Amino acid sequence: MILITGANGQLGYDFQRIFKDKNIDFIATDYKELDITDIDAVREFVKDKNINLIINCAAYNNVDKAEEEREICYKLNAYAPRDLAIVAKEIGADYATYSTDFVFNGNKKTPYTEEDSVSPLSVYSEAKAEGEKLVLEAYDKSFVIRTSWVFGIANNNFNRQVINWSKSRDILGIVDDQVSVPTYSYDLALYSLKLIETKNYGLYHLSNSGVASKYDQAKYVLESIGWKGTLNRAKSSDFILPAKRAEYSKLDSSKLEAVIGEKISTWESGIDRFLNEIKEKGEL
Ligand SMILES: NC(=O)c1ccc[n+]([C@@H]2O[C@H](COP(=O)([O-])OP(=O)(O)OC[C@H]3O[C@@H](n4cnc5c(N)ncnc54)[C@H](OP(=O)(O)O)[C@@H]3O)[C@@H](O)[C@H]2O)c1
Repeated sequence: MILITGANGQLGYDFQRIFKDKNIDFIATDYKELDITDIDAVREFVKDKNINLIINCAAYNNVDKAEEEREICYKLNAYAPRDLAIVAKEIGADYATYSTDFVFNGNKKTPYTEEDSVSPLSVYSEAKAEGEKLVLEAYDKSFVIRTSWVFGIANNNFNRQVINWSKSRDILGIVDDQVSVPTYSYDLALYSLKLIETKNYGLYHLSNSGVASKYDQAKYVLESIGWKGTLNRAKSSDFILPAKRAEYSKLDSSKLEAVIGEKISTWESGIDRFLNEIKEKGEL
């Protein structure tokens, strides 16, 4: 039996869809059913359920708010992932949890590999980096999967923000000095599962293939939906945000691709599928 935590988020929702399609048994929990910051509740919950894999999709993802909510951010992104690893070890289940490209400072100008050392620029990324370390120390049957710029149908994300802005504005300015890779949560779930099935535990990078600035991503979305307005390039310095972001944080996913023996699809194809899905839901 597979336990998903944070199952109502973008990634959790797509894991659920994939498991349903494949007829794989799972238990989906979000905050209401199982608060991952309460290790005793987690211990109690997993009892007698024959769980052989825990996938932690829960997280604190408000990068700017984390600057003032350090404690809850660390609880969710560092200590709870470690506690889940401890419980997974106690019951002999495999374990997967997620981290971020934001653990890097962006000084490198070529894709970041698992060998590169972390240098977080914000509270959110410090907490994620701490979580990675704690999990890998706590349990050797863990997967720690770093990803970037996640979008999916189950939550708000940059694609949806751009679409909303486009409804009320004729001119948009989007930064072109933050570069990484948009990643479709469905692909993140799908390729994670392929990785988990190999039982080659450890630290991995998993993003859709390609590279994009926020400007490139917005341009692709806006052209795809046929927006008639003007899109301008902006700079991060034009917007004052509490958390610092790296200029470049593209992840190199080739370690994972070698292990699963497959190339990951492009971010553009992910956005195409995302837009089709929200169109079917009547959002476009
Ligand atoms: N989103 C990104 O751009 C991005 C980028 C890099 C890495 N990641 C990482 O990728 C993973 C998946 O992200 P995502 O975008 O799918 O996240 P998401 O959509 O924000 O989903 C997170 C889920 O966790 C739930 N949650 C919050 N606190 C909880 C608690 N104490 N116990 C149980 N569940 C709780 C949330 O519920 P509520 O909504 O009710 O709070 C939400 O349903 C995360 O580890 C994230 O940090 C995401």
